[in-house]
Amino acid sequence: MVINNSKIYNPTQHKHLKLGLFGFGCVGQGLYHVLNETHGIKAEIKKICVKSKEKQRILDSAQFTFDKNEILLDEEINVVVELIDDAKAAFEIVKTALQNGKHVVTANKRMIAENLEEIYHLQQQYNRSVLYEGAVCGSIPILRNLEEYYDNDLITSIEGIFNGSTNYILTKVFEEKKSYTEALKGAQDLGFAESDPSLDVEAFDPKFKLTIAIAHTFGVFLKPEEIINIGIQKISPVDLKYARENNLTIKLIARAYKQKGRIFGFVAPQFIPLDHMLAGVRNEYNAVLVEGAFAEKQVFIGKGAGGYPTGSAVLSDISALAYDYRYEYKKFAQREGLPFSNEALVDVVVSFPLGTLITPKDFEIFKGGYQGKDYQYMTGSVKIIKLKALSDLNNVSLILAPELNLAVIDSDKKELLYA
Ligand code: HSE
Repeated sequence: MVINNSKIYNPTQHKHLKLGLFGFGCVGQGLYHVLNETHGIKAEIKKICVKSKEKQRILDSAQFTFDKNEILLDEEINVVVELIDDAKAAFEIVKTALQNGKHVVTANKRMIAENLEEIYHLQQQYNRSVLYEGAVCGSIPILRNLEEYYDNDLITSIEGIFNGSTNYILTKVFEEKKSYTEALKGAQDLGFAESDPSLDVEAFDPKFKLTIAIAHTFGVFLKPEEIINIGIQKISPVDLKYARENNLTIKLIARAYKQKGRIFGFVAPQFIPLDHMLAGVRNEYNAVLVEGAFAEKQVFIGKGAGGYPTGSAVLSDISALAYDYRYEYKKFAQREGLPFSNEALVDVVVSFPLGTLITPKDFEIFKGGYQGKDYQYMTGSVKIIKLKALSDLNNVSLILAPELNLAVIDSDKKELLYA
């Protein structure tokens, strides 16, 4: 048999990559070290562009520049590695890099999530690649698996722990009985948290990651604003007690699923039974649970935050560029055109101090309640869209029930369609 396929892997075809790096924070330094320890990749950092002129750095000052054009206009640099904090400035860098014929590797989840459809078109227009494995769940190789491995499987859902800082906080609060503030400080000191930690604790960061994951899982480009996110900042001692008494823990879960011809997705804390696959995922570890029609459940677990784990994902993208790898967005190309919707019900447990104005009427289906000496909780089903309104009320904490009984609302008949 004669095989004539120019795309066949040929190890002699590896390109030599000259990198221009933007940002030298936690992930930038992680990448620098990981790259130095790796000998199989022909890539070297030519220049690093940073913002602050005052900061002490571990490398010689000749390695750095404060002028982005020293990288963007350098014809020898063929890959821009973008690892800065500012999503708007990052997107400008990405656009210019592509226009100037450079490939891009980035770990900037907010920038990717907010501009994904445009980034998809820019890659086609300039025939260059933008890779961002490090943007979703740190070291877990989920995007390339969704692109390549799950190409032929009918994925029905993707869910998991998509934020390291909040998982670290919840672990410390549960296992070491640390206060929320003390645990958050730990996540900040270890470099897991965003520079604005409300992005972590209010679940914006995992929402950005979910937006990206949805594009690669279901072929739908969403704007992050379309997805509801409920954070962990209002979890109360009453919730912790409820969990302990019922053999549960609490995890911040990002999820998207396909049901009755629509795609649903949201991020919210959930009570998780102690024997569930995600219950034992601790500290800054992340987990992604993919469910497919034939493969059924598969779980990926790995460090979701920190310089070295994220640096290793960035390095893997750089390595992939040496083989001319590009995301093909196959699910988008083959897309079934399924709409995204928030017209579904989920089961929640809502806890609040006595005197708070929450009544059974706030639920589509009220399932029961309990009144203690100074607090109360109620359980029932609410619309996804209502999750936000309820959790925004003063002193109200909202956590998804362990069994969700996801139900879709039939928009014509207004009736419930259970999975
Ligand atoms: N702040 C993020 C987290 C960093 O805690 O998961 C990694 O994306």
